Amino acid sequence: MRVLVLGGTNFVGRSVVGEALGRGDEVTTLNRGVSGAPPEGVRRIQADRRDPRAVEVALGADEWDAVIDTWSMEPAAVRESARLLSGRVGHYGYVSSRSVYRWPLPVGLDENAPVVDSDPGSTDHADYAAAKRGAELAVLECFDGRALLARAGLVLGPYEDVGRLPWWLGRISRGGRVLAPGPADRRLQYIDARDLARWMLDAAERGASGAFNAVSRPGHTTIGELLEACNDVVGRNAELAWRSPEAIEAAGLSGWTQLPIWVPPNGEMAGLHDGDVSAAHAAGLSCRPVRDTVADTWSWLREEGFPEPRADRPPLGLDPDVERELLDARH
Ligand SMILES: NC(=O)c1ccc[n+]([C@@H]2O[C@H](COP(=O)([O-])OP(=O)(O)OC[C@H]3O[C@@H](n4cnc5c(N)ncnc54)[C@H](OP(=O)(O)O)[C@@H]3O)[C@@H](O)[C@H]2O)c1
Repeated sequence: MRVLVLGGTNFVGRSVVGEALGRGDEVTTLNRGVSGAPPEGVRRIQADRRDPRAVEVALGADEWDAVIDTWSMEPAAVRESARLLSGRVGHYGYVSSRSVYRWPLPVGLDENAPVVDSDPGSTDHADYAAAKRGAELAVLECFDGRALLARAGLVLGPYEDVGRLPWWLGRISRGGRVLAPGPADRRLQYIDARDLARWMLDAAERGASGAFNAVSRPGHTTIGELLEACNDVVGRNAELAWRSPEAIEAAGLSGWTQLPIWVPPNGEMAGLHDGDVSAAHAAGLSCRPVRDTVADTWSWLREEGFPEPRADRPPLGLDPDVERELLDARH
């Protein structure tokens, strides 16, 4: 296929580019050229997506079989790209998010759950859920029946610049007693960016369309398996000290941010790791074992170093003093 990747130099986009090259696709990336360069063999075009005229000039009169769009900011930029591409691209894959659903996400949430209200012409991206939903609507305006809306949940894997799995790998590699949020058999749901990329490219090739929740099946792994896999790949320096959700709550710690990836089994975030993803799996999504994701992420971190924390995200991870205090608490 001739594939146009909008973005392509950060986490998910970089994985799309890597997978597409691996399968012999002809790849073009469009970005500003600020966040890094795509690998050899990729045709690069540059434009700021907030400048429709610049995008129009950069796209020229070229045609592609598929576009994969990683944009997460204002829907108006997606609307503009979709409009410019509608007559000369067969398929639009949009990397969306399960954030489009109304909060809180119930256990078992599927694609029929209500989504947030949004405007596909909005130039605002302060509200992430509305921005993602607005972008979906913008894609559908020109590509209904030819668009895959991949509503990803937690995305992990090499190039993860959000820093969730890198935080655990960094902490566990420092060794000692590591606060591990239990129970160890707490199920996790996530997607390796490379599996997401492969599935989106397959869908583009088949012309599959629709909105799908795209993560592993519930129970694909557990927090225990994930942290043990981290300990294995870094050389087993750490002792995982498991603490109950009640002890974590009593200490005032927040899942997801202070303890990345993990969320308590009860409460309004409980559904985050227990969604219904049968539709995407029936449509060909398959997820590699957690050990591969962890090992490959560690290899990438050792090769390229830990990514700078993203300015557009709250800081992640647990302060070492807070961790020690909780580990030393008698109960
Ligand atoms: N991380 C998660 O757990 C998670 C979960 C669900 C969904 N998602 C979705 O996954 C996607 C993540 O995508 P990602 O990691 O590939 O990248 P990203 O960090 O969202 O996007 C950055 C890419 O877009 C380009 N870009 C940024 N501003 C631009 C502009 N004004 N004009 C043109 N290009 C611009 C960047 O290159 P330049 O800077 O060089 O322009 C870079 O290639 C997002 O859509 C997010 O909503 C993530």
